[in-house]
Amino acid sequence: MDWLRTELELLKEQSLYRKRLIREGLIDFCSNDYLGLKEHPEVVEEVIRVLKEYGLGSGASQLVSGYTKEHKALEEKLSEFKKVPNCVLFGSGYLANLGTIQALTSDKDLILSDELNHASIIDACRLSKAKVLIFKHRDYSHLEELLKAHRKDYRRCLIVSDTVFSMDGDVADIKVLKKLAKEYDCMLYLDEAHATGVLGKGGRGGLEAFNENWEEFMVIMGTLSKALGSYGAFVCGSELFCEYLVNKARSLIFSTSLPPCVCAGARKAIEIIQKEPERVSKLKEVSEYIFKKLKDLDFEVLYHHTPIIPLMIYDERKAIHIRDSLFEKGMFLQAIRYPTVPLGKARLRLTGSLRYPKESLDLLFSYMRDISS
Ligand SMILES: Cc1ncc(COP(=O)(O)O)c(C=O)c1O
Repeated sequence: MDWLRTELELLKEQSLYRKRLIREGLIDFCSNDYLGLKEHPEVVEEVIRVLKEYGLGSGASQLVSGYTKEHKALEEKLSEFKKVPNCVLFGSGYLANLGTIQALTSDKDLILSDELNHASIIDACRLSKAKVLIFKHRDYSHLEELLKAHRKDYRRCLIVSDTVFSMDGDVADIKVLKKLAKEYDCMLYLDEAHATGVLGKGGRGGLEAFNENWEEFMVIMGTLSKALGSYGAFVCGSELFCEYLVNKARSLIFSTSLPPCVCAGARKAIEIIQKEPERVSKLKEVSEYIFKKLKDLDFEVLYHHTPIIPLMIYDERKAIHIRDSLFEKGMFLQAIRYPTVPLGKARLRLTGSLRYPKESLDLLFSYMRDISS
């Protein structure tokens, strides 16, 4: 098994070696807990209440005996929040993408996928037997060219895009995607992992932000693990579509369901967002403030009015060096490198969040000033 060491040495030489860093004792500036809900007292209290009632695990998959009223209540809350008729839970976003995309397509079908879609979509496309064509990032003229040239050769077609792209923070044009999907008789699959709780006035996601309504050909996937502060994922669609998923999505059928207390925490988080929609606009303000401060320090910062605010470093070695020096000072900004982003496009992951006290942000800016000078 010496080859394992050789492979790891190669990664080290390329500055692409990864290790897990324990984050306790550090100020975490790169989590996806955008709205600060994972530690919200009402969320924690609800989780404890349900934990005491049900115990820890769900005990089985949804179709055996792992589907409880807590799962159902969360699905209903998500449908109401996303304004889509029905919803099905999955164990994680990765599993939701794998199971749903596989269930919707087979060898007679075509998938058109944005080149910067999340790895779980890429893997889902690989697992499906469909023909997969990649369109240039947010280049909808390219998407239309591909549709014109290839749509007619396939039975069904699925257009897939992240709504907010996880590593750049930019946003897909939902209006154009919807129009093209309709025109070319395609299904439109939106991954709203980073859009849920973030986009739109009420944090409902891409449809709210673009003033669009859900229509039957659309599939809205999202995670509970980002702004909702929990764990797991969901897929929303028509009643018929959800019934189909329950029967066909292998990652739902063959995997233990979420613990009921995890569902309860996510449900409470949505209730808080609905009660306090100002959290969403405040997140925008915080993100913009961080962006402006860092821009003033001459950092190259990407900002698209979402809480994903990457600090572009490009060189992998340098990104690790900056991450490590911030780490020593008690700040956690992870270095994101290939294959999460293209080679030579390394960056520090910095996210806006309602969790940061002003003193932590001031400390961050003062360390960043040292680095920039
Ligand atoms: C766009 C996108 N989709 C899917 C996932 C996977 O979600 P999860 O972490 O729940 O598996 C992520 C998260 O990392 C993501 O950023």
